Amino acid sequence: MRRDIVPAGADSLSYEIREIVVIAEILEKMGLPLIHENIGDPVAKGEKIEQWIRDEIKKLLDLEISWAYCNTQGIPKTREFLAERTNKIGGIQITKDDIYFFNGLGDAVAKIFGFLKREARVIGPTPAYSTHSSAEAAHSGYEHLTYKLDPDNNWEPDVEEIYNKAKYNDSIAGILAINPHNPTGSTISRDRLKRICEIAEELDLFVICDEIYSELVYSSGETTRLAEVIGNACGISLRGISKEIPWPGSRCGWMEVYNKDKDPQFAKYIETILKAKRLEVCSTTLPQMSIPYILGNEKYPAHLKKRTARYEKRAKEAKAIFDNTPGIKFIEPKGAFYMAILFEDNMINATKTLAIDNPEVKAKIESLCNGKSIADDKRFVYYLLGSTGIITVPLTSFYSKINGIRLTLLEENDEKRLEVFTTIRNKMIEYIQS
Ligand SMILES: Cc1ncc(COP(=O)(O)O)c(C=O)c1O
Repeated sequence: MRRDIVPAGADSLSYEIREIVVIAEILEKMGLPLIHENIGDPVAKGEKIEQWIRDEIKKLLDLEISWAYCNTQGIPKTREFLAERTNKIGGIQITKDDIYFFNGLGDAVAKIFGFLKREARVIGPTPAYSTHSSAEAAHSGYEHLTYKLDPDNNWEPDVEEIYNKAKYNDSIAGILAINPHNPTGSTISRDRLKRICEIAEELDLFVICDEIYSELVYSSGETTRLAEVIGNACGISLRGISKEIPWPGSRCGWMEVYNKDKDPQFAKYIETILKAKRLEVCSTTLPQMSIPYILGNEKYPAHLKKRTARYEKRAKEAKAIFDNTPGIKFIEPKGAFYMAILFEDNMINATKTLAIDNPEVKAKIESLCNGKSIADDKRFVYYLLGSTGIITVPLTSFYSKINGIRLTLLEENDEKRLEVFTTIRNKMIEYIQS
C-alpha cells in the first residue's frame, strides 16, 4: 500500500475463545473428535429454549412492526419497561432516555471505546474479558491498563491498586468492572463496587460495569447492581439478553447511563455514541420488542432461578472434582457460567507434554508449541486439545499473567460434563507430572 493502512492498535485485537477453534478445526480434519468447552453460548451447548418464550416470540412474528427498523436509541416501550425495573432496585432513578440499545454488547463495547477520545484510558480487571481489553487497547494504541483480581480472595478487585493507578495516571478517565465476571465466575462484593464508584466520584472518572450476567448470581454470591452504589459518579451499566434468556443470536444489549447530566463532557460523550448509532439506523427490532413480554412475564423469575440453580449445582460438582488436587487451584464461581482452573506457580513450563495418539495431530501440536514463545497455559491448552479433543481457553489470553484455563458450566449432558471435568483434571495432573 502507498500508505500504512493498519491502525496502531491492530495487534491488540484478539479473541482466543474463537481463535482456538480455527486450530481445532484443522485437527478435526485429521480425525480428532472435538468437545467445545470454549464458548459461552448456552444454546450451542444444548439448552432448550422454553416453550413459553418461543410462544412470545411467535406472537411478535405476526406483527408487521417487528420486521421494521425501530427508534435508534431503542423501542420506547421497552426502554420504559427496563427503566422501571432498574428504578425498583431502589438506587439511582432513570428514565427511558437513559437507555440505549445496541446489536449486542459486542456492538456497545466497540462504540464505547471507539468513540472515546484516544488519549482517555479505561482501566479494567485482569483477568479481562477479551472484548473489553482488546477494544480498549486497540482504541488507545497501547497495552490495556489493568488492575488485579485476587484469586486468593475470591477474585475480588484490588481497589487500592485502582485508586493509586487512577490517581497518579491522569490519562485514566474510566474504571471498568465486570460483575459477575467472565472468565472467573466471580462476583464483586458490595463494599468494593461501592468503593470503585467513590473513587470515580473523587477522581472525576466514569464507571463502566458490565452486568450482562447480573441475573445469574448463585445463592453463594452477592448481587449488587451498579445502580445501587453509583452515588453521584457518572456510570454506564451494560446489560443484555444473550445470557439471561438465553438468546445470544438476538444480538441485543443495552447500556443504562447514570448521572449523565452531572457532567457535560460525559453527556457529550454519550451523545456521540448515540450519533454513531444513528449512522446505522437502529439495533435489532424483534428482540427488543420481546423484552417486556419475556423479562416481564410472570414465569421469568422462576426461569432465572432454575437456570442459576443449575449452574450453581454444576459449580459444586466441579469443586468436588478439581478442589484439593495438588498443583491445581480451584476458586468456586459465584455467578455466570464460567470458572478458571489455575495451575499453582511453577507447575508448568515449556518442557511439559501429554501423550497424543494420532501422529498427524501430534505433529501439528508439536509444530504449534515447539520453538515458539507461547504462554505456558496455552501450551497446555494445545496439548489437551491434541490429546482429548477438548477445546478450552488459556487464562493468559484473558490479559492475565496467571496460568490456567477457563471452563464453562454449560454442558447439558450430566454424564458428559462430569467425564469432561474429570478428564481435564487428570490431564492437568499428567501434564504437571510429565
Ligand atoms: C462479560 C461479557 N460481556 C459481553 C459479552 C457479549 O455479549 P453480547 O452477546 O451481548 O454481545 C459477553 C459474552 O460472552 C460477556 O461474557
